[in-house]
Amino acid sequence: MNIDTKITPRLKMVADLVPCCTLVADIGTDHGYLPIYLVNRGICERAIAADVNEGPLSSAKKNIAETRVKDRIETILSDGLKKIENADCVTIAGMGGELIASILEHRKENMTRFVLQPQRSYDDLRRYLAQNGFEIKKEAVAKETDKMYCAFYAEYTGNAYEISTKEALLGKSELVEDKALYNEYVQYRKKEVEKALNQMEKAKATGERREELEKLLEIFSL
Ligand SMILES: C[S@@+](CC[C@H](N)C(=O)[O-])C[C@H]1O[C@@H](n2cnc3c(N)ncnc32)[C@H](O)[C@@H]1O
Repeated sequence: MNIDTKITPRLKMVADLVPCCTLVADIGTDHGYLPIYLVNRGICERAIAADVNEGPLSSAKKNIAETRVKDRIETILSDGLKKIENADCVTIAGMGGELIASILEHRKENMTRFVLQPQRSYDDLRRYLAQNGFEIKKEAVAKETDKMYCAFYAEYTGNAYEISTKEALLGKSELVEDKALYNEYVQYRKKEVEKALNQMEKAKATGERREELEKLLEIFSL
């Protein structure tokens, strides 16, 4: 299998945030493309590909078996980090921010480096990280077909910190390398809110949700 053809811009963004390490654990691996790419590229010496469901895990096993790095990737059926004892970097991609936060609750003492890519509830995840002492050191954004995604690299320090609403929603621009793509991402998120507001206007909807969206639009325009 040529793994380079399987790595989409979203997964490439995640892989690019992973520091060189000995053992990476990819939680919710599904197809297993991320750990295959990381080991194949020499970014990580070995990997654990973990998933809570048998179906995705067997698809990962099948894909891993077709690679030259198959002996360096172990597959584990695990709910989040529960069965993972050791990893010097953990990746969790393609899930909601709340689910990612609940997985982080089972972090072991030796796990301090995390690459996280929430599909939604980015603000909830950034707030969880701030309240629970995970420092976000790097952020990235990616564009894939007509969608845009964000991801971040965080280190556990144990020191909680304050985070503003804007930072929770959009991250810190100074932590993103590609400023032009980040500006595009902010506009993309703003358009999402404008679209939802337009739909509410058409339906003549009022109430809390509309107020919430109007506040969001204000924050995105700052
Ligand atoms: C949408 S896929 C994302 C796959 C891959 N990480 C990616 O970003 O392309 C989500 C995967 O997470 C798995 N998953 C969901 N909850 C999980 C949990 N608590 N622990 C481990 N895996 C989980 C699902 O079975 C599914 O394979």
